[in-house]
Amino acid sequence: MTSPASASDGQGAPSLAGASLQAGLSAYVHIPFCAARCGYCDFNTYTKLDFPGGASLSGYRRTLEREIELSRHALGVASEPPSFQTVFFGGGTPTMLPPSELAAIVESLRAAFGLAPDAEVTTEANPETVTQESLEALAAGGFTRISFGMQSASERVLRLLDRAHSDGQVARAVGWARSLGLETSVDLIYGTPTETAAEWDRSLHEAIGLGVDHVSAYALTIEPGTKMGAKARRGELPGVDEDTQAERYERADEILSAAGLAWYEISNWARPGHECRHNMVYWRGGNWWGYGPGAHTHIDGTRLWNLKHPLAYAAKIANGELGVDGFERLTRVERAEEQVMLAIRLSEGFTANAQALERLAEDGLVEFLPSVPTAASAAGEAKAHARLTLRGRLLADEATRRLWDFL
Ligand SMILES: C[S@@+](CC[C@H](N)C(=O)[O-])C[C@H]1O[C@@H](n2cnc3c(N)ncnc32)[C@H](O)[C@@H]1O
Ligand code: SF4
Repeated sequence: MTSPASASDGQGAPSLAGASLQAGLSAYVHIPFCAARCGYCDFNTYTKLDFPGGASLSGYRRTLEREIELSRHALGVASEPPSFQTVFFGGGTPTMLPPSELAAIVESLRAAFGLAPDAEVTTEANPETVTQESLEALAAGGFTRISFGMQSASERVLRLLDRAHSDGQVARAVGWARSLGLETSVDLIYGTPTETAAEWDRSLHEAIGLGVDHVSAYALTIEPGTKMGAKARRGELPGVDEDTQAERYERADEILSAAGLAWYEISNWARPGHECRHNMVYWRGGNWWGYGPGAHTHIDGTRLWNLKHPLAYAAKIANGELGVDGFERLTRVERAEEQVMLAIRLSEGFTANAQALERLAEDGLVEFLPSVPTAASAAGEAKAHARLTLRGRLLADEATRRLWDFL
């Protein structure tokens, strides 16, 4: 976002009592622990597992449970809390926690807020961290979906990425999950320096061959603060090449769609009906509470973020306060900009100024969809409904900026 911070930004937690949660509520649970840090990753995760004061791997569940209670009070929903429609455990490596602990956290969410009968409950999992028994325990504990960090089918690329698993462990883990009736997804990374086109094709074909319902494919970003970033700076590793990454993206779209996994978001493909409902909440600007250090929350146009370090976060919760570090209330313009930035990513399309879309269509960035009547078009401004073309998906940031000029 390029907009200046709004006047109502602040530290600590704002009052959220009275927020309208009619559009539903989701939960994100961050588990900030990993056995080792992959060379490319700058997520908020720690390989030290024994922080004191409720921030250790073993004490972490209790801290999350307190935060869940505190969030319920903050939302002022003491009598009739809204049920969670979707829950997503991300990391870090959520499966560093025993499945009984993960199931207990789901139970705490259910006890505090309720869980919709058809709730989607996902956990990310590194393939080497699960067994058939642990997946059985997750399924019995309320999980419906597992997203495995496959990254590549090439052992060579896995080693470049510092991954701890081998290709065979992915196939085994996905097979167990599918046989238990869990929905399955894999994350892939493309454009790792020296990865060949053939290696990427093989990763895509292998992912499809696993029979997963959903694939996320991310362009490798070399983050400055990572081991890979340092190697690139020292000239020991070639940088990522944007043209190569664009070719890899086009190949992903071609191979995945031919296999029946259609794109529904720029980096995500799914069999029909298997789109990740939790992620759709983010892209449609819905409401979610984020639990854990560094987690973000969005309620009705107010964004909150938790303290990033597990120790600082847990100390605040132990003191009976939310782990919140700061918040911002988005202005009308900021909300409109954000809505464009998120909605533009979806294949379901978005509604925007007709003249702006006309110009983007001339440049091959969007295609028009049958028009959806909107309140704004009734008020006089000509609006149209469109979605990004393949070229537009590669140039989504440019398309977003051009639409902002018309807000
Ligand atoms: C933060 S990880 C958490 C899940 C789990 N620990 C794992 O690694 O499989 C979520 C996903 O983010 C992606 N990711 C992390 N860092 C990335 C980077 N620098 N560039 C592209 N994708 C990245 C990976 O595909 C990973 O599966
Ligand atoms: S396992 Fe996942 S979260 Fe942990 S360091 Fe690797 S990519 Fe990051």
